[in-house]
Amino acid sequence: MNEPIQLLPVTNAAQVAQVARMAREVWDEYYVPLIGRAQVDYMVAKFQTAEAMQAQIDSGYEYFQIWQSGQIRQSDKAIGYAAIRHDAAEARLFISKLYLLAAHRKSGAGRQCLELIERLARERAATRLWLTVNKGNPSVRAYERLGFSIAEAIVMDIGGGYVMDDYRMEKPVTPAR
Ligand SMILES: CC(C)(COP(=O)(O)OP(=O)(O)OC[C@H]1O[C@@H](n2cnc3c(N)ncnc32)[C@H](O)[C@@H]1OP(=O)(O)O)[C@@H](O)C(=O)NCCC(=O)NCCS
Repeated sequence: MNEPIQLLPVTNAAQVAQVARMAREVWDEYYVPLIGRAQVDYMVAKFQTAEAMQAQIDSGYEYFQIWQSGQIRQSDKAIGYAAIRHDAAEARLFISKLYLLAAHRKSGAGRQCLELIERLARERAATRLWLTVNKGNPSVRAYERLGFSIAEAIVMDIGGGYVMDDYRMEKPVTPAR
């Protein structure tokens, strides 16, 4: 199942709408058991609608659909999505989103995505990757396996009476081999 992965940049409104549909699916499936229905509805409405994602893109975020090679002509569905923001001044790259559909987890796709994101970071002379992840999310362990370590615990007020109770994790960008 270790099919090559591609990150296809989201460049038009139709692709933004596809990612928004996938976001709803992944957040409903994965985050409701972790943070509850009410907070998921709040966060999807605030951060993961097509309008919210377009505003993020307009402010410097880059979204990608994650495809497995061979699927592009055979299926109209990607296996996940990712978003990054490059901060040139700080030489670091923020991984804002990395979500795979349930059927495509734990078979190496996440590791391949991270390698592609790290390659992008290297091309842009970033020396660090960072992300935030809910403290109760088992993916903390996955990121540790992928070379990240916990830099700090952070609690972010996101309005509506909700907070994001996260770890900030970091990974140095390794030089090209
Ligand atoms: C996090 C995510 C992108 C990782 O991708 P993946 O394809 O499942 O991960 P991989 O199969 O490449 O595994 C990478 C490593 O992490 C480990 N791992 C993966 N998921 C894990 C989990 N839930 N718990 C513990 N370890 C895990 C794997 O065993 C592997 O380690 P190894 O190579 O030393 O054996 C994916 O699981 C996902 O989309 N999860 C749901 C959404 C989410 O939490 N996203 C992150 C939000 S910040």
